[in-house]
Amino acid sequence: MTTVNIERAVALLKQGEAVAFPTETVYGLGADAWNPTAIQKVFDIKGRPSDNPLIVHVAAAGTVDDFACEIPGAARRLMKQFWPGPLTLIFKKRPEVLDLVTGGLNTVALRWPNHPLAQQLIHRAGPLVAPSANSSGRPSPTRAEHVTDDFGKQFPVIDGGRTQIGLESTVLDVTAQTLTIYRPGYVGKQEIEQITGQTVRYETESASDKPRSPGTKYSHYTPQAAVRWLDAAEPTDRGDALYLLHDRDTDARTSQAVAYGGDYGRMASELYDRFRQADHEQRSSVLIEPFSDRQIEKSSLVRALVNRIDKAIG
Ligand code: TXA
Ligand code: MG
Repeated sequence: MTTVNIERAVALLKQGEAVAFPTETVYGLGADAWNPTAIQKVFDIKGRPSDNPLIVHVAAAGTVDDFACEIPGAARRLMKQFWPGPLTLIFKKRPEVLDLVTGGLNTVALRWPNHPLAQQLIHRAGPLVAPSANSSGRPSPTRAEHVTDDFGKQFPVIDGGRTQIGLESTVLDVTAQTLTIYRPGYVGKQEIEQITGQTVRYETESASDKPRSPGTKYSHYTPQAAVRWLDAAEPTDRGDALYLLHDRDTDARTSQAVAYGGDYGRMASELYDRFRQADHEQRSSVLIEPFSDRQIEKSSLVRALVNRIDKAIG
């Protein structure tokens, strides 16, 4: 693994290179948000479709004015409450923002990550586009080693250990008439409603070719192993499957089953690592205890978990 310090990472970014760095959600693949050549490298490295827009990462609320041309009151309240943090906001974009960043949309996504290394990096290198630092379609990286798995040993990465949340940020459109969550995450609907005093809806993913958030139409987060939900009475010690159990106890206390005992935070932070573990161990499947509707309603993190697991199932 080629770990780099902040100094070196800043130098690389200023030369128009891409560098992976930790955030509180997942590792990002950073590049100068004003350098089209650098941003093109990000698409090439990931194998990402060019119509899938990128999130611009900032390290001060004021930088939003360089990218967004209209900041609704609701967005100001959300920024005050949740930034820095795992909430991405979609604004109307300024004309200068590169089409490469927005995939040609008239909006731009912005986030201020809550991680000291990410913040130092952005302070010194300027605003960075940063998709998750995985090959397109693979699980997002939650450890520096995952970046190396996808991009090779030579790829420069700032090692910040395991990321805390482990699932990507909530993506919220504040330009829509009704505040709309395109991607569920740690920051949930109820909290957003409480802070803004407005109703929030989830964008139900349609098979449409032109969804409002292009990322939602691509298959995502997928390990090689087949992922599926466990049936209610199904045993948890069969074949070479890896079992992930949020509340159930395991039948056999083997390395084959992980019981989280209701700790959904730990399950979320480990999910992608477990997917990658299953592949390293060449297991054929990952079987996951399903959540009830009530658990999904009660916890935004559970909703985010179910969303990512459903996408991995495909
Ligand atoms: O937690 C995160 O958000 C991580 C870390 C590195 O910050 N980043 C991340 O980026 O997950 P990425 O590129 O993997 O996912 C960004 C999502 C995609 O689904 C994309 O389609 C959506 O945000 N998005 C970006 N700009 C958008 C826009 N202007 N309108 C609608 N959706 C947008
Ligand atoms: Mg991603």
